[in-house]
Amino acid sequence: MSLSRADRGLRVDAARLWRTLDEYARYGATAAGGVSRPVFSPPDLAIRRRFSDDCRALGLDVSVDAAANVFCARPGSDRTLPRILIGSHLDSVPDGGRYDGALGVVCGLEVMRTLVELDRATRHTIDLVSLTGEEATSFGTSTFGSRALAGRLPDVSDNALPDGWTVRQALHDAGGEWDDLHAMSTAREPLACFLEAHIEQGTRLEATGRALAPVSGVCGIYRHRIVFHGTPGHVGTTSMSERRDALRAAALFILAVPALPAAVAAADPSATATVGYLNVTPNSPNVIPGRVTLVTDLRSADATLLAALAEGAAAEARRAARDTGTEVEITTMLDQGPVVFDARVRIVMAAVLEDLGEGGTELTSQAGHDAVHLGALAPAAMLFVRCRGGVSHNPDESVQPADAALAADALLRAVLAIDASPDFDAPGVPLS
Ligand code: GLV
Ligand code: MN
Ligand code: MN
Repeated sequence: MSLSRADRGLRVDAARLWRTLDEYARYGATAAGGVSRPVFSPPDLAIRRRFSDDCRALGLDVSVDAAANVFCARPGSDRTLPRILIGSHLDSVPDGGRYDGALGVVCGLEVMRTLVELDRATRHTIDLVSLTGEEATSFGTSTFGSRALAGRLPDVSDNALPDGWTVRQALHDAGGEWDDLHAMSTAREPLACFLEAHIEQGTRLEATGRALAPVSGVCGIYRHRIVFHGTPGHVGTTSMSERRDALRAAALFILAVPALPAAVAAADPSATATVGYLNVTPNSPNVIPGRVTLVTDLRSADATLLAALAEGAAAEARRAARDTGTEVEITTMLDQGPVVFDARVRIVMAAVLEDLGEGGTELTSQAGHDAVHLGALAPAAMLFVRCRGGVSHNPDESVQPADAALAADALLRAVLAIDASPDFDAPGVPLS
């Protein structure tokens, strides 16, 4: 690892980092102590303004692209070099925790503040990004901003948000522009790499007494949208034998889904299968449910096993429809294969952690991340931070201040090591 002795002594301002995390948690704060900042919601728009103001105050060049990703750049001394991109996301799941995504953005901000404060020049431009809408939404996307950058965003422009606004309108209000997305993904500037710090969202670090770990890659994720069509009718006057109840079909299906991973558990004990979204129409106590829409989320680190889970889920949906006399419509919302991160950045990340006394084996992520899609543009790598009890997507998400500071130290050192290395002077070559 090419880090000078002086750079190996650098530390971020731990108190400032923690204060900023606290302040950012006020945007969309919930009574339970977490945050609710779904993409394009008023708190999401408010925290974007706060983040941009913080970066402008630091003298960074702030720009918003067509996907409403917010970039904050500190120019390097050699403008011919590709950018080193760092960051994560500021949106959250409904009633989520303070650190999923925000930790990576605020650690990135602390890296920038430290570089500015020390007046430390870099050869590469360092760019901090807050990516739009990483979390899954009911309007059909997740990792919105990173998929847009990689040219992988499906056309959801006319899909409706919970407030009735279309994605196109909501994106415009956040500073993006649907019709410019295509041009954005073809005209992007070259990247040397992308680095993301993120809470682990699992218990492996806690169990082994480690604060940080390098990440080797991300599991595959498959999502179906499944719609059961029955016949709406009067709950008192339609006899039990005459009914086509879409919610009964959905219930049979939902009970079958958690059993699916057992079939692949010998090969992948981490495989999961979940139904986390359900919409009942008309959702009235005295009307037989006529239509139910649900979304399955299937995960495995092995592409073949993931395909088997997807086939198993579709077969269960067809069986539930048959058993209830309903009809079923199955569409694929997401088919994202497992990703192994680029070895060159993983080596840097592992060396930086070793140097900080945090050496150890790499972890595979069971959560989806923007680094999956940015990894299609340039070498990407991640750093996991211990979180209490592995609790995440929950207001009780919790991180130790010392662990957060160590993560920002590691990010700072990884940036400086990459900046010093000639291996990253050419634009990163995508993995696939
Ligand atoms: C992101 O949080 C995901 O894994 O769904
Ligand atoms: Mn996240
Ligand atoms: Mn998340």
